[in-house]
Amino acid sequence: MTHDPHSYARPHEARVTHVALDAAIDFEARRLRGRAVLHLDVAPGAAEVVLDTRRLHVHGVEDAEGRPLAFALGEPDPVLGRALRVALTPGTARVVVEYETDPEGDGLFWLRPEQTAGGRAPFVFSQGQAILTRSWLPTQDSVGLRQTYEARITVPEGLTAVMSAEHLTPEGVAVDGGRRFDFRMPQAIPTYLIALAAGDVAFRPVGARTGVFAESAVVERAREEFAELEGMLAAAESLAGPYRWGRADVLVAPPAFPFGGMENPRLTFVSPTLLAGDRSLTTVVAHELAHAWPGNLVTPATWNDFWLNEGFTVYLELRINEALYGPERAAMLEVYGHQALAGEIERLGADSPDTRLYLDLVGRDPAVAVTPVPYVKGAAFLRALEHAVGRERFDRWLRSWFDRNAFATVTTAQLARDLRENLFVGDAEAERRVDLDRWLYAPGLPDGAPRPTSAVLARVEARARAFAGGETPAHALETQGWSPQEWRHFLNVLPRQLPPERLRELDGAAGLSATENAEVKFAWLRLAVHARYEPALPALERFLTSQGRGKFVKPLYAALVASEWGAREARRIYRSARPLYHAAVAADLDALVR
Ligand code: BES
Ligand code: ZN
Repeated sequence: MTHDPHSYARPHEARVTHVALDAAIDFEARRLRGRAVLHLDVAPGAAEVVLDTRRLHVHGVEDAEGRPLAFALGEPDPVLGRALRVALTPGTARVVVEYETDPEGDGLFWLRPEQTAGGRAPFVFSQGQAILTRSWLPTQDSVGLRQTYEARITVPEGLTAVMSAEHLTPEGVAVDGGRRFDFRMPQAIPTYLIALAAGDVAFRPVGARTGVFAESAVVERAREEFAELEGMLAAAESLAGPYRWGRADVLVAPPAFPFGGMENPRLTFVSPTLLAGDRSLTTVVAHELAHAWPGNLVTPATWNDFWLNEGFTVYLELRINEALYGPERAAMLEVYGHQALAGEIERLGADSPDTRLYLDLVGRDPAVAVTPVPYVKGAAFLRALEHAVGRERFDRWLRSWFDRNAFATVTTAQLARDLRENLFVGDAEAERRVDLDRWLYAPGLPDGAPRPTSAVLARVEARARAFAGGETPAHALETQGWSPQEWRHFLNVLPRQLPPERLRELDGAAGLSATENAEVKFAWLRLAVHARYEPALPALERFLTSQGRGKFVKPLYAALVASEWGAREARRIYRSARPLYHAAVAADLDALVR
C-alpha cells in the first residue's frame, strides 16, 4: 500500500472499511449533528485507530456496546486538519464518534434561501475533493482507502436530502423534527466521493438509468439541457466497459457551486452555469460521467497521481463527444484544452516541477493540482499512446486497464509497467514512439506531442485576425450562425489590448454584453476587463455576483486586479460577492483581492 501524505491514517494498524452515519441537518445553526459508526479492520495488537478531522467538534467516542473509548485530537495543521486518535480495547471492531460540524468548516456549504435559484428554501451541499470530507465526517479521509457507507439524514419537513448512494427512501419518512432520508452505498469508494446535498430538490427522469435532481425552480430546464444523459452513458460504456454503479443521475447545485462538475458516484453535482438552453455546455456532464471509470472505479493511490484521474477522464470526455457529435466537436474541445495548457506552461515555466504529470504535493493542498497540466497534458499522453499503437489496440488496452484495476488504486509507476506489459507487449517500435519516462516524470510538453487542430476554429482564428488587424469591421465578420463554441474561441484569441472602441463595435454588432451562455460571457468579460471596456462593467458585476464557479470568477478578478482601475472595482464587487463564494474559491480570492 502506498503511503498517502494527505491523511493521518495508519491503515496497516487499523483501517475503516464502512461508515454508518446518522445525522441531522440544522440550517439555523449551520451544523450537521450526529454520530458516525466506523467499522474497522484491526491488525493484531494495534492499540489505536487514527482518523482525519478538520474543524469538527467531537463530543465523545465509544465502542459498539456504548463503552467510552479514550480519544485525543492532535494539533491542527493548515492543510491536513487534526488527527483523531481513538484508543482501541482488545476486540473492538467498531467505534462510534458523536460529533457536530463547525458553521465555518469548509466541507459543507450553507446557503440562505436568497442564495438559491428558487429563493425560498435554504440549501446545503458537501464538496469532499480533495481532502475536505474530513470537515463533515470523521473517518480515514485518504484517497487510497475505499469504504462503503450508509446514512440516515434528517432534514426540516418540506426539504429533500440526496447523496452519492442508493436512495432507499426517495420520499423520505416523517420523523420527530423533520423528514429522514436513508442511503446505502454498497460499493467501496474513496471518501472524497461521499457527498450530501439538501434543499428544495425535485427529480425528473431522463432515461432508464438517468435523471436530474435540481431545485424545483430549475428542474424542467435541467431536464431539457441534459436530455442526452442516457446517450452519453451508453457512449462511455462502449469505450470503458459496463457502468457498474446502477444509476447515473445529475444534481444541479445552486449558483455558488464552485466547479463545473463533481463526479460524485451515482449523482454527479454540476453548476447551473451549464444551463445554456441549447445543450452547448454539456461536455462537463460527459466528463463527470467518464469519471465512473478513472477516479471512481480505478482510483489514484495518492493525490500525486491525480493526473491518472483527470487525464484519463478528459481523454474519455473527448471520445464521448466524438461518438455523439462527431470529430469536429471533439477537436474544438481538444484545441481549447491545448490553448489553456500552453498558457499554463508559459505561466509556470516549461521547467517547473508543477508541469509534470506525476506531481509532488507533499505539504500542499492537493486542490492546487487543478490546472490544465493533469487534465490536458494527461489526455495528450493518452492521445500519443493511441497514435503510437493505433486506436483499435489502444481502445482494447484502455478498457482492460479499467477491468484489471476495478475498485483498486493505481500509481503512475504501475501504469508505466502495465503499458509495457499489456499495450506495447514487445513492440519496441511503438514503445520508442512514446518516451514514457519523459511524459510521466519530466516537466513541459515533450517534442512531438500531439497538436490538435480544428478546421472550424482555424476559420474563426482567421476572422479574429482580420478583425484585430482592422481589415474587417465587426458588422462584416459574417458571424451569423456561429455556435457558442466559435464565439468563445473568437474572443479567446483576440489580442488582449484591443482599444475599447473596437470592443464597443463588437458589442454593438453581436450583443455580447447580453449573451447568456456562461462560457461566451466569461470569454467576453475577460477580454473586456483587459481592454478596459467600461460599458461591460454592469454585466461583469452581475456575472460575479450571480454564480461562484471558480473557473470563471478567479480569472476575472485576476484580470481586474492587474490594473489600478480594475483593482478598485474588484474590491468593491468582492465585498458584496464574497459570501456567495465557496470556501475553496474564497480562499484564493482573499489572497488576490485585497
Ligand atoms: N473532480 C473534478 C473537480 C475537482 C478536482 C474538485 C479537484 C476538487 C479538486 C471534476 O471532475 C472536474 O474536473 N471538473 C471540471 C470539469 C471540466 C474539466 C470538464 C470543472 O469543474 O471545471
Ligand atoms: Zn474531472
